[in-house]
Amino acid sequence: MLGRALVTLAYLAPCFCKVYEDVAQLPGLSYDFIVAGGGTAGLVVANRLTENSKFKVLVLEAGVSNVGVLDSEIPFLVGNLFGPTIYEWNYTTTPQSGLNGRVLSYPRAHMLGGCSSHNGMVYSRGSADDFNRYADLTGEPGWSWDQILLYFFKNEKISAPADHHNIQGQFNPSVHSTKGVTSVSLPGFDWPIFYHKVLQTTKELPEEFPFNLDTNSGKPLGLGWRQSTIGDGTRSSSATSYLASEFTQRENLHVLVHAQVSQLVDPSNVAGKVVFGGVRFSQGASQFTAKATKEIILSAGTVGTPNILMHSGIGDQTILKPLGIPTVLDLPSVGKGVQDHPFFSAVWSVNFTQTLESITQNTTRFDEAFAEWNKSHTGPFAMLGPTHIAWLRLDPNSSIFENFTDPSAGQDTPHIELSFSPGVGLAPLTGPGNFLSIGVVASDFDLFTLREALKSAQRFFKAPVWQDAIIGPTQNLENITTDALDAFIRNAVTPSSHLVGSAVMSARDAEDGVVIPDLLIKGARALRIIDASVFPIIPSAHTQAATYAVAERAADLIKQRWM
Ligand SMILES: Cc1cc2nc3c(=O)[nH]c(=O)nc-3n(C[C@H](O)[C@H](O)[C@H](O)COP(=O)(O)OP(=O)(O)OC[C@H]3O[C@@H](n4cnc5c(N)ncnc54)[C@H](O)[C@@H]3O)c2cc1C
Ligand SMILES: *[C@@H]1O[C@H](CO)[C@@H](O)[C@H](O)[C@H]1NC(C)=O
Ligand SMILES: *[C@@H]1O[C@H](CO)[C@@H](O)[C@H](O)[C@H]1NC(C)=O
Ligand SMILES: *[C@@H]1O[C@H](CO)[C@@H](O)[C@H](O)[C@H]1NC(C)=O
Ligand SMILES: *[C@@H]1O[C@H](CO)[C@@H](O)[C@H](O)[C@H]1NC(C)=O
Ligand SMILES: *[C@@H]1O[C@H](CO)[C@@H](O)[C@H](O)[C@H]1NC(C)=O
Ligand SMILES: *[C@@H]1O[C@H](CO)[C@@H](O)[C@H](O)[C@H]1NC(C)=O
Ligand SMILES: *[C@@H]1O[C@H](CO)[C@@H](O)[C@H](O)[C@H]1NC(C)=O
Repeated sequence: MLGRALVTLAYLAPCFCKVYEDVAQLPGLSYDFIVAGGGTAGLVVANRLTENSKFKVLVLEAGVSNVGVLDSEIPFLVGNLFGPTIYEWNYTTTPQSGLNGRVLSYPRAHMLGGCSSHNGMVYSRGSADDFNRYADLTGEPGWSWDQILLYFFKNEKISAPADHHNIQGQFNPSVHSTKGVTSVSLPGFDWPIFYHKVLQTTKELPEEFPFNLDTNSGKPLGLGWRQSTIGDGTRSSSATSYLASEFTQRENLHVLVHAQVSQLVDPSNVAGKVVFGGVRFSQGASQFTAKATKEIILSAGTVGTPNILMHSGIGDQTILKPLGIPTVLDLPSVGKGVQDHPFFSAVWSVNFTQTLESITQNTTRFDEAFAEWNKSHTGPFAMLGPTHIAWLRLDPNSSIFENFTDPSAGQDTPHIELSFSPGVGLAPLTGPGNFLSIGVVASDFDLFTLREALKSAQRFFKAPVWQDAIIGPTQNLENITTDALDAFIRNAVTPSSHLVGSAVMSARDAEDGVVIPDLLIKGARALRIIDASVFPIIPSAHTQAATYAVAERAADLIKQRWM
């Protein structure tokens, strides 16, 4: 994890265009659509709806503007944003019983672009199986891989890596788009020794670590080059892409920052369904109400969205009642059953010096790298962390399957992610980092899978190509008992910050769930949830790409509805 504060820089941007800081600057408070939360998904929706010049859209974002926040722009420096800072909600978890009762910080961005403004920028879509399972669970073929691919393409703009190297053989262009909005690119800086050894390992251990030309094809298994939401050596967030100046110039798109939505207001009953007239929000010490004449869209993220719902009386009435909140819609699934990927890292030290430590442990080199990025958006600051990712399945004969049915979505879906970094970046350790995380929530299953993930990483570094370089693991986790290993894991695991599932979609007639497959809230009209809250099961991937695709498709559904 990135943690050490280095420098936090900001400059005042000359022009905020239609991104307003003060509610008094807005021409009015009545819009066709209100989007609560200007994050990853919310800005996609606002951008797509305002393609229709007849739709007036207001985005209300609780956090600050992203403009001029260098630590967000420079891929390498994102660690400086983590809190407590003004860019963060500063959340911590409740004590986690599976993790020795530890209380963990849980990053959520409090800025335009949401978590896409401070995330790790890994671009991974998940497996075709993941999306086909969403289609099965919801009864909506629109969520299936074949149909959602179009929306991945609407979002994605494959861009040159920062160093403009030849990317042939590093990805499969036929499963990508160059016409979308958010930039996606291959690693933009060369680490020759590390790259050679990682790729050579796929030849020496091809059964366990086969090379996969493109892990974003719907079939992720194997080891491939990492793809990142980076363009021109700079972070591409939903704020820098969907709110680029060509879009903020639209007369019908207004974005207000420092505006925190507290609840939906003015409920009425129309043909047996609840319709809300608008939202209440605060700016500073003042309260305001904004009216929506067509729809309200909640895009406040997996934590923020159920928070607004429950304050509005939408949730489990047995929870709302004791809090003194009158129930408007009794939807017991609100806020329950969230999922994330447990994560821990293991580190090996090596005897070559071409690692991130050559930068992080050398002030001169660090300053040179900063100056290089500042001048041309190139160099080691143009990327962050892992350069390759391996997506792996457990051995089908594993004993764990005696007690657990396979939670993965299908045979082409990984249980384990290993991500390989040429160093540990901004953490105080030496050697090539090796980051592990897995994809399911079920404590015994997780422990088993994390142990297997570590063993897999240990085998990786036993490949012949590493033997002239590996000095050893920084911690001996190789010849210890299962109990000792479990104890280590329970102390080491942190969240991946891939939280999903707090307001899930389910079939139209299902008793549980919060939204129907077109993301309208059950029992309400003109009220949708469009963000990572709606995934009924976590994708076997980092979650931003899937969130972008969901938002792109949902925006299309809204446009069709109001055509
Ligand atoms: C530290 C970190 C690293 C990550 N790394 C990766 C990665 O490398 N690759 C990847 O694919 N995914 C990654 N993720 C996950 C990914 O970024 C998220 O799943 C995704 O961005 C979620 O999008 P969202 O639209 O659901 O929510 P968000 O992007 O969080 O947007 C919600 C927005 O709503 C605002 N908001 C909340 N409440 C209110 C309110 N009451 N009123 C007004 N505004 C409100 C928030 O400030 C925020 O801007 C990471 C996440 C984190 C936190
Ligand atoms: C998070 O903490 C920082 C530092 O104390 C503070 O400035 C910021 O306002 C906090 N964020 C929120 C959303 O309260
Ligand atoms: C630190 O970096 C500078 C500039 O690249 C280099 O000249 C110097 O040798 C480095 N120092 C060490 C100890 O590696
Ligand atoms: C970045 O460039 C600007 C000029 O474009 C210069 O003023 C500033 O000092 C540079 N910062 C660093 C860290 O190199
Ligand atoms: C699983 O067990 C079967 C039957 O014992 C065996 O044929 C197969 O090779 C095993 N698979 C793996 C991946 O070890
Ligand atoms: C399966 O569950 C049984 C009963 O709890 C337990 O004894 C056994 O060790 C479990 N097997 C595995 C592989 O975890
Ligand atoms: C370190 O590097 C040297 C020179 O490349 C090599 O001969 C040696 O075997 C390496 N390995 C270890 C583990 O020191
Ligand atoms: C673990 O044990 C094996 C076999 O005895 C040995 O080869 C290996 O070096 C040990 N690993 C560590 C890290 O001590």
